[in-house]
Amino acid sequence: MKYALLTTSFAAKSTDCLVIGVWTKGKLSAQASALDESLGGEIARIVDTGDVSGKVGDTLFVHPRGSAAKRVLLVGCGDEGALDARGYRKLVNAAVKAVLKSNARDAVFTLAELPLKDRATSWAVTLLAQEADNCAYQYDQTKSKKKPALTLKSIALSIPAGANRKVKTEALKLGAAVGKGMSAARELGNLPGNVCTPSYLASTATDLASQYKSLHTKVLNEKQMEKLGMGSLLSVSAGSKEEAKLIVIEYKGSTKAGSKPYVLVGKGITFDTGGISLKPGAAMDEMKFDMCGAASVIGTLTAVAELGLKINVVGVIAAAENMPSGTATKPGDIVTSMSGQTIEILNTDAEGRLVLCDALTYVERFKPKSVIDIATLTGAAVATFGDQTSALLSPDQALADELLGISQDTLDFVWQLPLWDEYQSLLDSNFADIANIGGPRAGTITAACFLSRFTKKYSWAHLDIAGTAWLSGAAKGATGRPVPLLVEYLRRQKA
Ligand code: BES
Ligand code: MN
Ligand code: ZN
Repeated sequence: MKYALLTTSFAAKSTDCLVIGVWTKGKLSAQASALDESLGGEIARIVDTGDVSGKVGDTLFVHPRGSAAKRVLLVGCGDEGALDARGYRKLVNAAVKAVLKSNARDAVFTLAELPLKDRATSWAVTLLAQEADNCAYQYDQTKSKKKPALTLKSIALSIPAGANRKVKTEALKLGAAVGKGMSAARELGNLPGNVCTPSYLASTATDLASQYKSLHTKVLNEKQMEKLGMGSLLSVSAGSKEEAKLIVIEYKGSTKAGSKPYVLVGKGITFDTGGISLKPGAAMDEMKFDMCGAASVIGTLTAVAELGLKINVVGVIAAAENMPSGTATKPGDIVTSMSGQTIEILNTDAEGRLVLCDALTYVERFKPKSVIDIATLTGAAVATFGDQTSALLSPDQALADELLGISQDTLDFVWQLPLWDEYQSLLDSNFADIANIGGPRAGTITAACFLSRFTKKYSWAHLDIAGTAWLSGAAKGATGRPVPLLVEYLRRQKA
């Protein structure tokens, strides 16, 4: 999708579709009023029919006489003065979907001009581009009949008179970059496990680096990981014919000498059968999404490179396939991690932490300013938060607070769970330094406790995205979360 700010008056602009907000009780938004005036009362006449509810997200196409636009989409915005960020997101989604269903090749959106109780216009501009990209995303890579290309090719946004154009242009660029990053993450997530293997993730990361001069990708194979002592990571791929990969993507945007990077570590289990601790069959197909943490790292770095942020970032992806076989790791096996700590693998289905712990030790070499790992780590996170909220755990409350604030700002929600020492003893093992499971209770917390044993050398936060990374049921598919959160976090950092 192409985005631009409108430079002329929207009422006079000839377009396939003009998108205009209306409040409840037949009240016209300022933009609807302006259009109404230019059309000699046409909009008021239409609204007077009573067919326009004004409820947030209700849409109606109308064809007012004399309009420069071929069609006008009226979008409900709720009660005047009550519209907030969440309502805005809802109505933007509804509006974009309606326009996409129409025959319009281009559209003018005036929605970013709506007054929001809790946000500035720049935020509204960013969100509109981000959400429009998300609505326009369609998956067809593994369908024999490709979906027809979208009719809608470009969206122009009107902004209030007197608004700072430069700031709004930046806001638009941000939304488009986040949208692009989310689409990249969604596509990787949606690909099946027989296509999106660890090697596929590695070549995707390598291809990405060839598209952006600021990105450099390095891929470690199993032999190289063995040399580093990554016995924990390698125990996960032991049962699979697919070779594990440690993918390191470096983004250099800082011009300051010796500027330390912000590090993202993604869980990249390209399929999680559970291994010898085999999962039950129902919905096991969804374990192709077990690399969505990795996908969010690639999506975030795509956005960061698009934006040209002036910081350094390293994305590390621990990619492996978790399979049962004659060479697979067995319950009770003990492995030695890169950190030297020995791990008793009591359940081979708790494999995410096993690949992450070695990646988390590996990133010590970067002397990171912060490390955030992103993982579809526990079913318990789904039980706790459903598909709305990612779990956040961190021993660094300042970092946790920062992420909590950004999640409220971006509407990419996270909520904190405790990571208190009292939970650590659940991981005690009679035979190794640590067990890889902590029993049936507090599963999201004990998983983070496990990771915390490997993150002592830097400031660290863990995001369990098991509930938010993809949707199940009829809408089954990757969501591209938490790319908005991660991009905004990085955007706010200094070199
Ligand atoms: N990838 C799963 C977590 C998961 C399960 C995400 C369902 C989304 C939906 C992870 O590898 C796993 O199997 N975790 C186990 C851990 C347990 C064995 C301690 C779980 O949560 O059941
Ligand atoms: Mn598992
Ligand atoms: Zn898993």
